[in-house]
Amino acid sequence: MKPVRKAIIPAAGLGTRMLPISHAVPKEMLPIVDLPAIYHLVREATDAGITDILIITNRDKDIMEDFFDVSAEYSTALSAKGKTEELQMLHDIAHMANVYFLRQKETLGLARAVGCARSFVGDEPFVVLYGDDVIFSEVPVARQLMDAYNRYGKSVVGVKPVAPEWIRKYCSLKVTKIEGEPNLYFCDDMIEKPKEGEEFSNLSILGRVLLTPDIFDIIERLLPGAGGEYQLTDAMASLARSEGVYALEFEGTRYDLGSKIGFLKANIDKGLIHPETRDELREYLLELAKTL
Ligand code: UTP
Repeated sequence: MKPVRKAIIPAAGLGTRMLPISHAVPKEMLPIVDLPAIYHLVREATDAGITDILIITNRDKDIMEDFFDVSAEYSTALSAKGKTEELQMLHDIAHMANVYFLRQKETLGLARAVGCARSFVGDEPFVVLYGDDVIFSEVPVARQLMDAYNRYGKSVVGVKPVAPEWIRKYCSLKVTKIEGEPNLYFCDDMIEKPKEGEEFSNLSILGRVLLTPDIFDIIERLLPGAGGEYQLTDAMASLARSEGVYALEFEGTRYDLGSKIGFLKANIDKGLIHPETRDELREYLLELAKTL
């Protein structure tokens, strides 16, 4: 079995739920306190042991590439001011991993974004970290999926139980519990955005999957699905029906940075632990709560 060394971060979506800001700033670059969402995704992948990361972008998202680059102007200015800590921080970001960028030419859906990565991935298993889903956990979720893959040798999708109204916006999995494994299921079907009565369970894929390269042939044959987009869930459903996939109920707190409320929650939660903001923010929130 080949080791998992590569990850893809699809970040070429239009981000319509975050308009108007997403019209000028990619939602993947929106900050959680002082670091953009895309940083947290690359950090998760590298902490999991991934060495090569491909970020799928589009013509309006060059700013992501700039973030992972070295800025001569900042290096000179920070050195001159003796700001070694900040200098080191920017250096570390630029050298976190081998980060590559590729443009998706048409925004036709997540499956097409993943399909763009075929030659980067080759015949190896790989992790997909959805570009607007930031997850904070003890063990990186990518690592949790990799551990399950190393035990079972099949694709593994990261799931969580979700409320019925969310199932209709996400997807629903048909699963059987694996004996002796507290958080693992075998999945032999799934459906994207089920209508009432069509759902299999309350388990939905949230932001992380580990796929075997068999998915690429399926993506190439895929037809448009819900919303007229090429849905990655439809490709994974085909894989689940033909050979089965595993579903891991991962440990971690997920924030949907593609939604306004997810963005606000992530900033409040992280602001309450960030050393530069926690005390003042806590005081502010306690005062504010009295007026609500
Ligand atoms: P989403 O469906 O959440 O992103 O896709 P979106 O289409 O940008 O969202 P809205 O509904 O318009 O607000 C999950 C991830 O897949 C990427 C997105 O950037 C996001 O990080 N994606 C989506 C692509 O890379 N390419 C696509 O064609 C579609």
